[in-house]
Amino acid sequence: MMEEIIALKEERRATILAHNYQNPEVQDIADLVGDSLELSRAAARLESDVIVFCGVDFMAETAAILSPQKRVVLPVKGAWCPMAHMVTPEQLREMKAVYPDAAVVTYVNSTADVKAESDICCTSANGVQVVNSLEQEQVIFVPDRNLAAYVARHTEKQIIPWNGYCYVHDRFTPEEVRASRALHPEAEVLVHPECRPEVIDLADHVFSTSGMGRHAQASKAREFIIGTEVGMIYRLRKENPGKVFHPLSEKAICQNMKKTNLENLLRALQTLEPRVTVPEETAARAKRAIERMLVVKA
Ligand code: 13P
Ligand code: SF4
Repeated sequence: MMEEIIALKEERRATILAHNYQNPEVQDIADLVGDSLELSRAAARLESDVIVFCGVDFMAETAAILSPQKRVVLPVKGAWCPMAHMVTPEQLREMKAVYPDAAVVTYVNSTADVKAESDICCTSANGVQVVNSLEQEQVIFVPDRNLAAYVARHTEKQIIPWNGYCYVHDRFTPEEVRASRALHPEAEVLVHPECRPEVIDLADHVFSTSGMGRHAQASKAREFIIGTEVGMIYRLRKENPGKVFHPLSEKAICQNMKKTNLENLLRALQTLEPRVTVPEETAARAKRAIERMLVVKA
């Protein structure tokens, strides 16, 4: 199946992008494995005709917005991020009416309609830099309350959070961190900013998924406890064969990220379906917010 995928990929002039949480066999066959920011940047600069996005809906939408001339395919129809759907454009418009002077920063884990209502997007890798790049002193931050709380700790600006969350990261508890540290006292604890503040308080470092990858390579530590979705462990072990990685919880699984496999990836390359598109008017407004993010240095 892998050979078929590689041959068809050439024939279709396709690039396979995969998020760090994808199944191992999908990561292995992808042209690029990365975090949301890296994958957005890649989608903007790629020259292929087709992007097969192994991830969830909002990522494929972002790619379609940045590269409308390319065909963007999400191998599994309905592979979605529940957090991205926790705020609607109507709700965001109501919030803007309450805080007319505030800028709107929208986490990329959001729908295209919500991005279109925003001043600028951010990812888990650049939230603080994005907020600090703004003129306004007040910032509406949607949809992740935990990322909002993390950013609020690293900026002078007033952050007005939305009450969304990622069910995978929000479930980590301080007790799990303490228990894991007791089992692995030499390990550094790395957690994702989608975790709750009380979990972040007990960590050594807070990183986006690819930030964890860079830190694991650079750190002198040989052992790590990883507070994010378990798919990240595969990449960390592959890139750092001499180091040891323990998931903070084996139960931290994003069901939708795990739906992509070699079978549906091959089918996607054969049929170039399911295609992800964004209506032109929404795409134009969302694109402004995404492109504004892409020029912020992080
Ligand atoms: P990053 O890979 O950007 O850190 O995001 C994590 C995530 O939850 C993506 O859905
Ligand atoms: Fe969404 Fe959380 Fe899954 Fe990321 S891990 S796609 S934020 S549900």
